[in-house]
Amino acid sequence: MTARTCLTVVLAAGEGTRMRSSRPKVLHAIAGRTLLAHVLDAVQKTGSRIAVVVGPNAEPVAAAARAVAPDAEIFVQAERRGTAHAVLAARAALEQGADDILVAFADTPLIRPETLARLRAPLAEGAAVSVLGFRPADPTGYGRLVTEGDTLVAIREEKDASPAEKAIGLCNAGLMGMSGARALALLEKIGCDNAKGEFYLTDVVTLARVAGASAAVIEAEDHTEVLGVNTQAQLAEAEAVLQGRLRAAALDAGVTMTAPGTVFFSADTTIAPGATVEPYVVFAPGVTVEAGAVIRAFSHLEGAHVGPNATVGPFARLRPGAELGEAVHVGNFVEVKASTVEAGAKVNHLTYIGNARVGSRTNVGAGTITCNYDGVKKYHTDIGANAFIGSNSSLVAPVTIGDGAYVGSGSVITEDVPPDGLAVGRGRQVVKDGWAARWRETATAVKKKP
Ligand code: UD1
Ligand code: CA
Repeated sequence: MTARTCLTVVLAAGEGTRMRSSRPKVLHAIAGRTLLAHVLDAVQKTGSRIAVVVGPNAEPVAAAARAVAPDAEIFVQAERRGTAHAVLAARAALEQGADDILVAFADTPLIRPETLARLRAPLAEGAAVSVLGFRPADPTGYGRLVTEGDTLVAIREEKDASPAEKAIGLCNAGLMGMSGARALALLEKIGCDNAKGEFYLTDVVTLARVAGASAAVIEAEDHTEVLGVNTQAQLAEAEAVLQGRLRAAALDAGVTMTAPGTVFFSADTTIAPGATVEPYVVFAPGVTVEAGAVIRAFSHLEGAHVGPNATVGPFARLRPGAELGEAVHVGNFVEVKASTVEAGAKVNHLTYIGNARVGSRTNVGAGTITCNYDGVKKYHTDIGANAFIGSNSSLVAPVTIGDGAYVGSGSVITEDVPPDGLAVGRGRQVVKDGWAARWRETATAVKKKP
């Protein structure tokens, strides 16, 4: 038997006014990735073709969809007239056909690929429609699943439900499957004779039964998976659920964390087994940490790679393009940006390394600054291997410090330093014997005068 084909239509046309934010709702992020990207990522993992339906003037949403799923077809729903109307905006994709059609909402970011796959099983067995059900603590606002025995007979939206129907605890999670052979015909029959005057996707259940076909319910194992985001509070709730998943996965993968509840991950954070993460660390997007590395407390990392057995922090900041080699030490109040710090180098205290290379085993003293910016352009600082940068030095880029070279403390280095050379760029020290005593004597005498 050949595998059944699938098309997933992702509805992303919500304006999200309840977020009270000028950003489109589905472009809000959890774990460093937009709600839309989470859903597209889950759908991609199932191997399904993807159609994304966006609202009018939603080029940023379309662009975000293309960035995650370059093969997705994008459709515009010109007017917001209901979920069925939105699915029909992707008519051209539906007409190309697929064995199974799934509909997912871009504001339901925690959905798992396994659940999308589960929803297809009843379709393979001949059902025309399959619906993901769940039992929320408070069903208010959700469509209720009206069942007779094991069969689903209708989905009633809150506004159209009778008191008896409102008492039903089993609700529509919003994820639906339809048989590809029947989907278009069913969708075209949907009307808008309801309390909201919208074309409800949920009406396909009744229409399928009228056509002599069946509808099935699959119950979600974990109700957090279908949490919909309509408000900032729900966004924070989804973030908390996802952080819980990411922490559990990191522990499971062999990362040591003394206080996992204080560590924040991005969806793409990659930490090797055998790495340690101390409390209160934030991983923004794009971070990879190798085995044996220790990320000490209160550090913030973004777009960075931490090599094996390296140590970062406490209180360190790695910004995009920070590339730390094996056994590198980056210590407290050090910021590294767009720079490579090679194996065994140490940058331990109060330092800014930007647009630079620090060669292997080089020691960068406390308070060193690479002056990489002249207000217009950025310039490179190249520090060779086995060099020593004395504390409180300013390296004014572009500048090169050769292998094994030495920079005297407090220097302002504006010219290249040759390998194994010494550069001292500071005012020469002047010592005046007895000066302080003489000054005190005169100063006190002046003060005593009437
Ligand atoms: C919908 C379901 C409800 C279910 C709930 C789960 C329908 C009619 N109702 O209700 O049974 O319990 O989700 O969260 O389907 N959208 C468009 N274009 C439109 C209308 C909606 O793209 O014209 C998109 C929205 O952006 C959103 C999704 O469809 O992502 C759901 O729409 P929404 O209005 O939030 O539906 P609910 O009232 O929550
Ligand atoms: Ca909703």
